[in-house]
Amino acid sequence: MQQVKAVIARSKGAPVELVTINVPDPGPGEAVVKVQACGVCHTDLHYREGGINDEFPFLLGHEASGIVEAVGDGVTEVAPGDFVILNWRAVCGQCRACRRGQPWYCFATHNAKQKMTLEDGTELSPALGIGAFAEKTLVAAGQCTKVDPSARPAAVGLLGCGVMAGIGAAINTGAVTRGTSVAVIGCGGVGVAAIAGAALAGAGPIIAVDIDAKKLATAARLGATHTVDSSATDPVAAIQELTGGFGADVVIEAVGRPETWKQAFYARDLAGTVVLVGVPTPEMKIPDLPLIDVFGRGGALKSSWYGDCLPSRDFPVLVDLYQRGKLDLDAFVSEEIALTDVEAAFDRMHHGEVLRSVVIL
Ligand code: APR
Ligand code: ZN
Ligand code: ZN
Repeated sequence: MQQVKAVIARSKGAPVELVTINVPDPGPGEAVVKVQACGVCHTDLHYREGGINDEFPFLLGHEASGIVEAVGDGVTEVAPGDFVILNWRAVCGQCRACRRGQPWYCFATHNAKQKMTLEDGTELSPALGIGAFAEKTLVAAGQCTKVDPSARPAAVGLLGCGVMAGIGAAINTGAVTRGTSVAVIGCGGVGVAAIAGAALAGAGPIIAVDIDAKKLATAARLGATHTVDSSATDPVAAIQELTGGFGADVVIEAVGRPETWKQAFYARDLAGTVVLVGVPTPEMKIPDLPLIDVFGRGGALKSSWYGDCLPSRDFPVLVDLYQRGKLDLDAFVSEEIALTDVEAAFDRMHHGEVLRSVVIL
């Protein structure tokens, strides 16, 4: 066991605290990782606000990269000294999704078995089974994906959550490829990553939709060919106009709201695909959607969990594309901050001032 500094949410809505925690030595199938960088994500804030569950205290942080410090018995996929990106879907290899060859849907993903605790022994709930606003964290070895150690930790750590979700929504879930017309509704970190993913795949046109002009400017920098301010313009009509009157082949919803999902539904071409990567809240509903429109427009209505990614397949490839200058992950790092600045970063995120603040350790 060892003691490290970490950021926790002790109770619902209370500001986060920097405390000392106990990190057990890795048991069978586990690894202790010395965290180098960890992005601040909306999900961390949702945990703090009690919006995910009530299992306080939470150890926050989950978009991270670092160096494996120690591994437990039976761990073969990583070794001490490896540079890794942490993922929150370590696939099991045994469930019905894994066995039918679709491990990105794994229905039984796993985390470390042992618990990290406060100094008094209170068990912590690590955010998404990671908990990386900490000098060191304990995870399942399968949550560590080895990548090129010369890559910048702050940039590639973001592949651990929001950026992978966005890129994967386009490339994995939406099957966007050369010549696909794409629209992305909502251009925060996730939506802009979907735009970058679509650009990487050779899609076009790539239409960015947001209600915030700042976000649209970033979207244009990362690969959008057209931008639509939906606070002033009807986005469905605008997307149709930019696609020969038809609508886009793939429309990605990266807000997580019924009204923007409905825009996505009507802004796609016949037989097109809607991808929902924004995360709705439990009470949200789609009112008054004529079933005949679902039938008559054909195509596919999909959701994208974590960009339907397979970390072992996708992380190393995306890191290499970043290293070769083809994927600008640096653009997602709005600022580098210290472990003591997480609460202030939540504030800036809430006000839409940043794509990502990244804690550097
Ligand atoms: N129409 C268009 N864009 C909108 C609308 C709307 N009605 N409402 C909000 N937006 C834009 C915001 O201006 C912002 O740019 O959606 C974007 C949301 O971005 P962020 O808040 O930065 O969130 P992000 O990290 O991108 O995550 C987006 O994916 O993973 C989920 O929980 C996450 O549901 C969230 C979504
Ligand atoms: Zn599985
Ligand atoms: Zn996240």
